[in-house]
Amino acid sequence: MDCTLVIHYVRHEFSEEALGKDNFNLAQQARQATFTAYSPYSHFCVGAAVLLDNGETVCGSNQENAAFGAGTCAERTALFYAHAHQPDVPVAAIAIAARKEGEDFTLTPISPCGICRQALVEAETRAGHPIRVLLCGRNEVWEFATVKDILPFTFESF
Ligand code: THU
Repeated sequence: MDCTLVIHYVRHEFSEEALGKDNFNLAQQARQATFTAYSPYSHFCVGAAVLLDNGETVCGSNQENAAFGAGTCAERTALFYAHAHQPDVPVAAIAIAARKEGEDFTLTPISPCGICRQALVEAETRAGHPIRVLLCGRNEVWEFATVKDILPFTFESF
């Protein structure tokens, strides 16, 4: 039996009019966070902005290490910081932006790595409601209504 999986997402122009105030602000904060990246090995700067249900925003960036495996992605930096400081406040949304060091933001949005997607799934379970995911390119933003849309066939604990 052949099965087809359809993933729904919305492509918005990167503007306040197209995105709405909240999503636009979050996308801008993700962009800003790329400037705090510590990425002397990859020279790739990633920023993530996490919006909490209480309206606060927490930002993070990738933090690399000479022992490569010790480094952390922007998404988990922001997510774990948020949960470590406000464990009872659910995550509402996350925006992610990236650029090569010294260059403009990537034309095509980047997508979280597998480990970060898994961490986001857990955050969604913790939140008890879907987490909006905004993948931000230079001129457009791809909006996913739930983390499940970027990690289908999700593993969750039994
Ligand atoms: N990186 C992130 O921070 N987030 C992603 O979604 C993909 C990759 C980081 C890890 C590493 O520091 C650099 O980008 C190059 O892979």
